[in-house]
Amino acid sequence: MSILVLGGAGYIGSHAVHQLIDAGEQVVIVDNLETGHKEALHPKATFYQGDIRKIDFLRSVFQKESIESVIHFAANSLVGESVEKPLKYFDNNVYGTQVLLQVMAEQNVKQIVFSSTAAVYGEPKVVPIQESEQTKPLNPYGETKLTMEKMCHWASQAHGIKYVSLRYFNVAGARESGEIGEDHRPETHLIPIILEAALEKRSHVTIFGDDYHTPDGTCIRDYVHVVDLIDAHLLALQYLRDGGDSDVFNIGSNQGFSVKEMIHAAREVTGKEIIAKNGERRIGDPSTLVASSTKAKEVLGWNPTKTNARKILEDAWRWHVAHPYGYDKEGIKE
Ligand code: UFG
Repeated sequence: MSILVLGGAGYIGSHAVHQLIDAGEQVVIVDNLETGHKEALHPKATFYQGDIRKIDFLRSVFQKESIESVIHFAANSLVGESVEKPLKYFDNNVYGTQVLLQVMAEQNVKQIVFSSTAAVYGEPKVVPIQESEQTKPLNPYGETKLTMEKMCHWASQAHGIKYVSLRYFNVAGARESGEIGEDHRPETHLIPIILEAALEKRSHVTIFGDDYHTPDGTCIRDYVHVVDLIDAHLLALQYLRDGGDSDVFNIGSNQGFSVKEMIHAAREVTGKEIIAKNGERRIGDPSTLVASSTKAKEVLGWNPTKTNARKILEDAWRWHVAHPYGYDKEGIKE
C-alpha cells in the first residue's frame, strides 16, 4: 500500500517524499505545481498533477491507487499574502482539506498527518509554547490551519479518521545530499533571504523591526531542520499505524534565535559579509515564538539530531550555492 503525499513537490513535501522512499515506503504524490517544482519530484514516486479541491480528480487518485495513509502539505503558507487575500487561504487550505476528508471518508482511508503551524497561537502568553496554550491566530494563515485542525477533529469523531497535526515552528535547512531545497517565489523566509544576500543575489537583508522587547530588539524564532521535521511525520505515521489517538504536537527546537543572531551565524557559516539594514516591523509578526516540543519527544519518540542553527545554515547554504537560481538552471529568482 502507498502513502499519499499531497503537496509532494513543495519544499517540505519533497523532503517528506525523499525520506519516505528512503524508509522503503511506496509513495503517491498529488501536487498542482502552483508553488511546487517538477524538479523536486522523486523519480520513484507516482505523480498526479492536479488540485485537491477537484473532488473527481482526487477521488480518481484514491480509486487508482491503494492508499493506506495521507500526509497533507498542500496549502498556501505566506502570512503576509494571507492578510491581503484571506479568501484564497480559506479556499485552498480549508476547502481543500474538506474535500480531502470527504474523499478519505468515502474511500475508507483512516489516517492523516498534516502540517499546522505556530501561527495558530498568535502572540503566546507563555514561552516555550505548549500545545495547551490558547490558540488566537493573528493572521488568516494561522486561522485556516486552526480551522483545518478543528475540521479534522470533527471528521475524526464522525468518520473514524485518525489525525496527527504537527504545528511547525520555523522550518529551514535541506537534505545533506543537496538535490532538493527551499525555493519559494517570491521568497519571504529569513534564512533563504540571508543566504541570497550572501550570494549577492540581494544587496542586503532588511531586519523587520529592532525595537521588540527582546534582548537585541529583533524577533526571536525557533528554527527546526526540515529533515528532523520530516522524521516527526514518519513517527506520527507509525504512531497512527500503532493505533495512537488523534493529537496535536509542536515541532520546534525549544530554543530561540533572534534575527540578528541568525545573520551573525550565517556570516560565520558562509564567510560572507552579508549586509543587514534595519527596517520597519512587518505586520502580524509576534515578537517571540519558541516551542516546547516535549510532547512530541515523549509521545512520538521524536529525537531531532540536526536541529541547531549552524547545521541548518550549513545545509541550506550547500543547496543555495549549488542552486543559486533555485530549481531554474539560470535566470533571475525573485
Ligand atoms: N525577517 C526579517 N527580514 C526578512 C524576513 C524575515 O527580519 O527579510 C524576520 C521576520 O520578521 C521574523 C523572522 O525573520 O521575525 C522569521 O521570519 P520568516 O518569514 O522566515 O518566518 P515567520 O516566523 O514569519 O513564519 C514562520 C513560517 C510561517 C508560520 C509562521 C508562524 O514560515 O509559515 O512562522 O508565525 F506561519
